Amino acid sequence: ILEGHPANPAAGDADRPIGYGRLQRKEDPRFVRGKGNYVDDIVLPGMLHGAILRSPVAHARLVSIDTSKALAHPGVKAVITGQDLLGLKLAWAPTLSADVQAVLVTDKVRFQGQEVAFVVAEDRYSARDALELIEVDYDVLPAVVDARKALDPGAPVIRDEIEGRTDNHIFDWEAGDKAETDAVFASADVVVSQEMVYPRSHPAPMETCGAVADYEPIDGTLTLYETSQAPHAHRTLFAIVAGIPEHKIRIVSPDIGGGFGNKVGIYPGYILAVVGSIVTGKPVKWMEDRSENLMSTSFARDYIMQGEIAATKEGKILAVRTTVLADHGAFNATAQPTKYPAGFFHIFTGSYDLQAAHCKVTGVYTNKAPGGVAYACSFRVTEAVYLVERMVDILARKLEMDPAELRLKNLIKPEQFPYKNKTGWEYDSGDYATALRKSMEMAGYDELRREQKEKRARGELMGIGISFFTETVGAGPRKHMDIVGLGMNDGAELRVHPTGKAVVRISVQSQGQGHETTFAQIVAEEIGIPPEDIDVVHGDTDQTPFGLGTYGSRSTPVSGAAVALVARKVREKAKFIAAAMLETRPEDLEWEKGRWFVKGDPSVGKTMAEIAMGAHGTVALPEGIEGNLDAEVTYDPPNLTFPFGAYICVVDVDPGTGHVKVRRFIAVDDCGTRINPMIIEGQVHGGLTDGVGMALMQIIEFDAEGNNLGGSFMDYLIPTALEVPNWETGFTVTPSPHHPIGAKGIGESATVGSPPAIVNAVVDALAPFGIQHMDMPCTPARVWAAMQGRPRPP
Ligand code: CDP
Repeated sequence: ILEGHPANPAAGDADRPIGYGRLQRKEDPRFVRGKGNYVDDIVLPGMLHGAILRSPVAHARLVSIDTSKALAHPGVKAVITGQDLLGLKLAWAPTLSADVQAVLVTDKVRFQGQEVAFVVAEDRYSARDALELIEVDYDVLPAVVDARKALDPGAPVIRDEIEGRTDNHIFDWEAGDKAETDAVFASADVVVSQEMVYPRSHPAPMETCGAVADYEPIDGTLTLYETSQAPHAHRTLFAIVAGIPEHKIRIVSPDIGGGFGNKVGIYPGYILAVVGSIVTGKPVKWMEDRSENLMSTSFARDYIMQGEIAATKEGKILAVRTTVLADHGAFNATAQPTKYPAGFFHIFTGSYDLQAAHCKVTGVYTNKAPGGVAYACSFRVTEAVYLVERMVDILARKLEMDPAELRLKNLIKPEQFPYKNKTGWEYDSGDYATALRKSMEMAGYDELRREQKEKRARGELMGIGISFFTETVGAGPRKHMDIVGLGMNDGAELRVHPTGKAVVRISVQSQGQGHETTFAQIVAEEIGIPPEDIDVVHGDTDQTPFGLGTYGSRSTPVSGAAVALVARKVREKAKFIAAAMLETRPEDLEWEKGRWFVKGDPSVGKTMAEIAMGAHGTVALPEGIEGNLDAEVTYDPPNLTFPFGAYICVVDVDPGTGHVKVRRFIAVDDCGTRINPMIIEGQVHGGLTDGVGMALMQIIEFDAEGNNLGGSFMDYLIPTALEVPNWETGFTVTPSPHHPIGAKGIGESATVGSPPAIVNAVVDALAPFGIQHMDMPCTPARVWAAMQGRPRPP
């Protein structure tokens, strides 16, 4: 499929971005003018407002709930409790991980902030006021907060509503070959091990979650405006859960103010807005506030990982093994392909050519909000990359080798692709050493090491951290994965109107990534209509073909491929129409961008606009060619795409305060063929900033009773321009061999690759203290404490 395509390096000029390159974003005129249309901007006639009463405690039996005073509030139209939902068979809803989650509490509260009751009122203020009039009697129980204690014999059983359940165990899952791995470890010269925690973090999009539900009882239609990253999948699940026929449901996700995985699942609030609309006969809006978002919507990470790496004394890495304790909170609502309870964690083999690898992941329930969402990553690839990149650095220290040299020695070589790793992935393409060398050149690596040496001699703490990551994005091939039984394919429809203007309808859902621009660029590249003449429609199930939505950087690998192929279908059809118009044979025509012309006589041809008019006009069309210039496809990717990158971080640590300053950050990314380099840089800048947040600032902690200590932006810190350096970005281009235009995803690479680079740099700065590892976030307090009681470096 790449033959003759400019994306194919064989066709020359692989560095050239496709189409119109750094095209300004088509969506920005509305965003910069404040004319975006978000869920909270939607106002429908007669609309009511919902608010959720949340539990103040983490674990408690619900003794009684009295709603009479709230119902007497003059503005209140309805108060809905778990008992009401039981009658509607909606008290519990299935999760994306074969579990169930309470929509409203019926028996027991299982995390602080859990949904207890829903008030519908004439305005937002009355709804909130009425929450305080609901009287709830809780019988408080001991909480399980530490995943390490969740499986203790005496631990309180969180999910005791499930018949026969006597513990908090969810699953055990393994990948790789244990016996083979153990054998390699047993005979290795060098083995290092380290426990590390990827702490509980939160995607924290700028726009919180919300919905406006409009149920029309006469014809039984439900229109649901939602903050959703996957409108089509939500519609199917709503049809199954609520019993509303799927053709009667329309889901609209208008402009979305950031998702990062937070808007993949179906939250109780969405269901409650629907129930509220059915009960009152009016549209109902529910919009959560910041604390509700941070306390009750999907968390990320919370992985306790024991890592081990085996090598020869010359530094050949042989094997990696790990056991993981995964804290999934009170309900297993993790969003990921059904077959993989630990997501894509088994890509912890990283970018290295290993002899063996094995992992075992154990999932447990705790009294925390349901977690496990893929926060700006492809289903746990972030945890996997962090584990292996920390372990490689620890090994380098043990072997007294430079961490860049150790990596260069072990990276998979270009000729080994497609590379089958030891846990079953087939990496599609890569040239890893070139990317790492490029980042080292940009950084002036040798000079940095010299500077560090001098500074160390003066007692200054400078650290240099490297990470090399391989991502796995574009979920995914239907032969390998599904989400709750839905194959992860995406549709695209392209219509070229008679005057040569076009509309492409896609099933993925932008949350700010610029799809309206880049997807128009893909069509423009393929059929030669300029991007400004191509509208991209997404986010409305009535307007777009079925598909699984946007998360895990899957839009370009899956939907981008669908768009390229639908455009090629139109181009092919245009050939037949042009032939009819030119009274020649299709096989006598040749394509140049935007035009079919007669081979050997370039002056005789037809542009796409002329062909579009011809298609809709009166030209006699050949047998089997219909009078339009439209096409549709559904794309099933043959494999995932494997973008990669080499990151180098330089930090200075203040020995007096423990404050870490990220002085420089060099990021070389390879996402295959680049569609819009400006958008790619924006994605990388955002992801790197996320990385600074995770590595240095963010954690959602809980006290022993299960009180959430990170429920506001006063406690959960968001990095700003003040905390980040001037990003230095670079790229290499290794096209994906199976993607129609050779593109791989980029959206999450930087979030995945940057935390280990930053932590490696911090630990490197602290090396003179003999510190081997520090858990994120490396806050001033933690860094300062780590240095105490250790001899000061000379
Ligand atoms: O699924 P999501 O949109 O979050 O991630 P993505 O597919 O990696 O794309 C993020 C943005 O970068 C989109 O606007 C892409 O079209 C653009 N991109 C690009 O210009 N070139 C690539 N090779 C990959 C993505």
